[in-house]
Amino acid sequence: DLGGGRRRDGLNFAAVAPNTEDRVVTPEGYDQGVVLRWGDPVVPGAPAFDFDRQTAAAQAKQFGYNCDFLGLVPVGRHDEWVLVANHEYTSEEFLFKNWDADNPTREQTEIAWAAHGLSVVRVERDRRSGKLVPKLDRRYNRRITATSEFKVTGPAAGSKLLKTSADPTGTKVLGTLNNCAGGVTPWGTILSGEENFNQYFANAGSVTDPVTKARLARYGLSGAASTRKWERFDKRFDVAQEPNEVNRFGWVVEIDPLDPDSTPVKHTALGRFKHEGANVIIARDGRVVAYMGDDERFDYMYKFVSDEKYKPGNSKHAREHNKKLLDKGTLYVARFTGDSPVAEIDGSGKLPADGEFDGTGEWIPLASGTRSFVPGFTAEEVYVFTRLAADAVGPTKMDRPEDVEPNPRNRRVYAALTNNTDRGKAGKEGATEPNPRLNNRHGHVLELEERRGDNTATSFSWKLLLVCGDPTSPDTYFGGYDKTQVSPISCPDNVAFDNQGNLWISTDGNALKSNDGLFAVPVEGPYRGRVKQFLTVPKGAETCGPVIEDDFVLVAVQHPGEVDGASAANPLSHWPDGGTSQPRPSVVAVWKKDKGRICG
Ligand code: FEO
Ligand code: CA
Ligand code: CA
Ligand code: CA
Repeated sequence: DLGGGRRRDGLNFAAVAPNTEDRVVTPEGYDQGVVLRWGDPVVPGAPAFDFDRQTAAAQAKQFGYNCDFLGLVPVGRHDEWVLVANHEYTSEEFLFKNWDADNPTREQTEIAWAAHGLSVVRVERDRRSGKLVPKLDRRYNRRITATSEFKVTGPAAGSKLLKTSADPTGTKVLGTLNNCAGGVTPWGTILSGEENFNQYFANAGSVTDPVTKARLARYGLSGAASTRKWERFDKRFDVAQEPNEVNRFGWVVEIDPLDPDSTPVKHTALGRFKHEGANVIIARDGRVVAYMGDDERFDYMYKFVSDEKYKPGNSKHAREHNKKLLDKGTLYVARFTGDSPVAEIDGSGKLPADGEFDGTGEWIPLASGTRSFVPGFTAEEVYVFTRLAADAVGPTKMDRPEDVEPNPRNRRVYAALTNNTDRGKAGKEGATEPNPRLNNRHGHVLELEERRGDNTATSFSWKLLLVCGDPTSPDTYFGGYDKTQVSPISCPDNVAFDNQGNLWISTDGNALKSNDGLFAVPVEGPYRGRVKQFLTVPKGAETCGPVIEDDFVLVAVQHPGEVDGASAANPLSHWPDGGTSQPRPSVVAVWKKDKGRICG
């Protein structure tokens, strides 16, 4: 039974049942507290949040909108960290009661710019209450927004493809956009993925040059005005006027929260696509490997292997060395091969003849430094138009790769493939063994093991850990575990690991008509595949950014109340402030009432 599993699977909680409540629901014996809400002061001197009188100047000092990835970097004493949060995007109809989509004001636009980006906030754990408490720290606290300065590094820095009238050097970009997931590096910095950057740029439809047009189209750029109409207030968002500005987004950015004066970086060596995030592991030989997903239907999984080795320790010398590791190395894209003739999982509930969705695969090199491995593409073109370069070498079309993250306990890599309702549609690819479900509404989770456990290897084996959905439905698979003993799960998005190596999965877009949530699943031993729900988030919200510490869990509750018919004029959620308040995207901590361990 799911409830009586205490200790036996090392996950010390009873499963939370699916629900549609307008609150965070946690297991029995657990407490919760809101850590930071949209609008809370971040930088000292920030005004208190006032929904009806918000200004751009206030927002630039306050916690941004739609928190997504969360990372904790230890600083100072035990139980003190800097918390870094991504602010993926703004939903203006929820920010402004008087939102008129055809006539945004300059102030509203500048509020939106300031609500994007990242927040860096020092936090402390109060041992007595269990709460995680934000501090208005003068040294560390920082906001990075859509107008903060970034430095472009790596092999495409200074490329003519990145030069604009405002930046003839092609090395200095203002801002980061649509920061979705990310990772904490072994050297204590944050990587953050610029995902759906295309939506901010207008007038791609006016481009006539066929090469440029094809490049824009592959990144989802077409048409006239953008949704938010930022192009009215800054011409860099108008592709017709500033054609290369869009090439300066879609990167993995690195932020050093321990060096508040440092300029954040955009890493061209990791390629340009709709980056979900990037997660780094130190290979046995000391080189570092970053795993990445391109979140689009039928897009690809990537990895980067550094040329140089990680230097251990926290000396300034070691950190400065490590912060350059992602500038020099080789970028690869993944090709998966199945080993069973029948790959589709369907209403018959039949598994492949060998009992598994599994097979082998290879990492196909795209570029290394100034050297391109893709015929017809210069190295610069591989980095700036990575999707098109990858198309030329035949990688496997995946069902929307979201987080792709190595498990530090077993070195295997876990990929959340969130869903793909286009699989099998007319003119689209059908079932393949790594993506075995047509009209894949619920997504799946793939486990990849590099050859000989060497993360720098160019070949691997893989198997599906989960084919998500309602476990009573035959087209689901839970690692071979008894499906009567698992929690339903749909649309895996972010992944994380606890100190025991259990996989934690947060969901976005639950297609089972209940709220999104956070789940834990062992990947080793007799409980492998037993998915157990840890919490649910309020209605309309997605669960993001899970951080799994031994004795508390952090989640970002993104876009609470974003349900059909809702807006700031008609809020259908009042979480977290209650009463008749507007919903506010927020970070929540959850811990055991007895302050005990959540796992192990
Ligand atoms: Fe922003 Fe792919 O989720
Ligand atoms: Ca098989
Ligand atoms: Ca995501
Ligand atoms: Ca998502």
